[in-house]
Order: sequence, then C-alpha cells, then structure tokens
Amino acid sequence: MLNAKKVLLSMKNINKSYPMGDSSLQVLFDVNFEVYQREFVSILGPSGSGKSTLMNIIGCLDVASSGTYILNGKDISKLKDKELASVRNRDIGFVFQSFQLLPRMSSIDNVVLPLIYAKVPAKERKQRAMVLLNKVGLGDKVMNKPKQLSGGQQQRVAIARAMVTDPAIILADEPTGALDQATGAQIIELFKQLNSEGKTIIMITHDPKIARQAGRIVHILDGRIYSQEEYERIYDEDGVKWTEREERPTIKERRRRRLANV
Ligand SMILES: Nc1ncnc2c1ncn2[C@@H]1O[C@H](COP(=O)(O)OP(=O)(O)OP(=O)(O)O)[C@@H](O)[C@H]1O
Ligand SMILES: [Mg+2]
Repeated sequence: MLNAKKVLLSMKNINKSYPMGDSSLQVLFDVNFEVYQREFVSILGPSGSGKSTLMNIIGCLDVASSGTYILNGKDISKLKDKELASVRNRDIGFVFQSFQLLPRMSSIDNVVLPLIYAKVPAKERKQRAMVLLNKVGLGDKVMNKPKQLSGGQQQRVAIARAMVTDPAIILADEPTGALDQATGAQIIELFKQLNSEGKTIIMITHDPKIARQAGRIVHILDGRIYSQEEYERIYDEDGVKWTEREERPTIKERRRRRLANV
C-alpha cells in the first residue's frame, strides 16, 4: 500500500527494573506502543510514572531489562554499548527541560557540536547550523552565549542542535518545563511546524494541556501504558486524580474545557 503508515519505533513487552541492594525495583511493566513516521506523539504521565525511564530506553541511553525495541527497522534490544551510541547520535535528537547548552559556547558552536562528533567537514557544519538557527528564528543571535539569551531562545538553540544531524526522531523531555506559559506555547508551535515539515516528535510531559498539543497521547501510569479511556477514568483533564477532587465535573463540562484548552 502506497499510503500505509510506516512504523518508526515499536516497543513490545518492555520491562525495566533497577537493582536495589539484594532485590530490584520494577519501573516499567510490559510497555507496548508504536510511533509512526511523521507523528507528533506525547507521552503523558504524573511524576514518578516512569517517563524518563522510558525516554532513556527510547533514546538508547539505557536498555530494557526485557522485551523488544525496534527503531528504524533495527532491533535495539540486541545492540552493544558502542552500537547504541551510534544509533543515538544518528537517529535521535534530544531536547531537555534544562536546555543543556554548553555555557561558554555561542549558539552556532552549540549547534555544530553533534556534527563534530559525526565528523562532518567544518564548512558544512557551519552552513547546516546557520540554516537551522535561521529556521528556529535565531539568525541574529548566532554569536550569543546561552547567558545572553532568554530561556525560550536557549530552548530554540537546543532544538536547532537536536535537528542538525537530521535525526529520525526528536525526543523532548518536558521541553517547556522551565519556561513561562507563553514562551512554552511558542516552543510547542515550533515543534508543530517541524512536525508538519515531516519530523517525527516524541514529547514527554506531565502536563495534560501540553500533551494535548500533540497529534496523539500515550498515557503512562505507574510504569504501565493506559488507553485514553482507562486514563480518563483515573485522571481529570488537569491530571488530578478524580478521587482527590472535591467535585466531579460532568462529561459535557470536561469536553467543553478540553475544546477550549483551558
Ligand atoms: N537509576 C534508578 N535507580 C533506581 N530507581 C530509579 C532510577 N531511576 C528512576 N528510578 C525510579 O523509577 C521510578 C520512575 O522514575 P522516572 O524518573 O522514570 O519518573 P518520571 O515519570 O520521569 O518522573 P518525573 O515527572 O518526576 O520526572 C521512580 O519511582 C524512581 O524513583
Ligand atoms: Mg522525568
């Protein structure tokens, strides 16, 4: 089929445990989901639900204890450290809550960094970095160091850096977490633009309002993936447990709020 959606990432029965002294703590339980090419997906769950643990596995920063993880047609679960690092550098662009820019380096030097690791020639590195800095609206801030940029601008530099190797996936962990609401909304708009241009984006967040900006939400609770319906039975649209709320709004009211995005 010509228009069949292509699976870019698939997780089958992924489990993750951390060793704790003599025993271990299980954090992910039989996680199953797929992400298609050109999707903008958010992974939504409360603090401690296992989002960063899952992100580390998606991003090849850590490996699952069991299960199968296929990325871009490759079985990641079977890779060694060195191969994992090369998949990570080539296929994933990371965006973090705290930007993680190098403080002594200018915007352009931060953006070219992944290309140095990828051994791209110097002239091409600068050209590619400039294209991306222009794309994120920072063509006039290329020589600024992080301290000379606003939070939103720093996150734009980080997004340009994540894009510069043209990775299969942009993986963002709470990308608006350190930003005020208006600036955060601009970052989401940038993600939407990049997604409409064909980039696959996975965004991790605890905030239902942010999550709803994506094309699809994957819900995670206590290390397990839930369907939308299961999730809505437990949490309201603000991410507050129904059992911890005084008054339960009607379904109509919940729909109204969702549509109004308040
Ligand atoms: N390296 C580790 N060793 C042991 N336990 C860990 C480790 N990393 C995370 N955990 C535990 O795994 C659970 C999930 O943690 P994780 O960081 O994935 O949650 P999260 O959803 O990202 O939370 P937050 O929204 O607060 O960032 C927590 O109970 C945490 O204490
Ligand atoms: Mg986390």
